[in-house]
Amino acid sequence: MKVLVIGATGTIGKAVVNALVARHQVVSAGHRQGEFRVDLAELASIENLFGSVGHVDAVVSAAGAARSGPFADLTDQDFRVGLLNKLLGQINLTRVAAKVLPSGGSVTLAAGLASRHFAPGIVPVCVVNAGLEAFVQGARLEMPRGIRLNAVSPGWVLETRLAFGMDSSAGTPAAELALAYVRSVEGTETGTVFDVGRFRSCGSVWTNHHAIRRNRSLRLGQRARSDAVCPIRRHPRVRRHGGACISET
Ligand SMILES: NC(=O)c1ccc[n+]([C@@H]2O[C@H](COP(=O)([O-])OP(=O)(O)OC[C@H]3O[C@@H](n4cnc5c(N)ncnc54)[C@H](OP(=O)(O)O)[C@@H]3O)[C@@H](O)[C@H]2O)c1
Repeated sequence: MKVLVIGATGTIGKAVVNALVARHQVVSAGHRQGEFRVDLAELASIENLFGSVGHVDAVVSAAGAARSGPFADLTDQDFRVGLLNKLLGQINLTRVAAKVLPSGGSVTLAAGLASRHFAPGIVPVCVVNAGLEAFVQGARLEMPRGIRLNAVSPGWVLETRLAFGMDSSAGTPAAELALAYVRSVEGTETGTVFDVGRFRSCGSVWTNHHAIRRNRSLRLGQRARSDAVCPIRRHPRVRRHGGACISET
């Protein structure tokens, strides 16, 4: 497949490119650097990107900016950045991709577990990620030509925590997170939010990134059985959703 990766120069995007490149032709796009340039906040820039790269079979986004900060201090502009860049930018990416992708193509967006796992100081991020997850589950019903639409919702990435000088015990390595993107590109799911993270829920550490790890067989070109996608259904706040795991909201 020819796969267009937006945000390919970032922490997650680089790992996604590394995970895809062995079996696919990867076209990399960044904002200020990279083989191709795009600004998600500008619809015309997204359209120009597709005009430049030509035919692609799948589109992956590991990009999108959103601001955070104490709620009382947030400005209108602080909210606008996330809404116009990460949320509307990826909605527009999907709209443009839906016009040009071939039958059976796929779009995979970048959301985040802040959609359902809340902490002080990140309200705009929570709103944007929740909007993206709702978008994916709603819009997939209207995607043409069997085009699949999914999102990957990471918790903290290990490399990001290390860069911020934070405790690394709760971070997921970007290379593991990238397997969720691979699953989305190569699998059959649509309308699925792939949660990848380690976080505390109901007083215990809960993770579903092992679900993705179990699908390492996909690297060999095999298709995992749907049962293998989510081996942690026993968790009381997790339910099956579109073949992957999401928390009850
Ligand atoms: N890292 C985490 O712990 C974490 C956790 C949850 C969710 N996420 C989400 O995952 C996504 C990627 O995170 P990351 O940590 O990999 O970010 P990152 O390292 O900052 O990389 C961001 C990537 O997006 C590109 N980009 C920035 N602004 C853009 C724009 N306006 N239009 C198009 N591309 C743009 C950058 O290109 P240039 O390099 O050219 O500027 C870069 O390739 C984000 O949506 C983030 O919110 C990350």
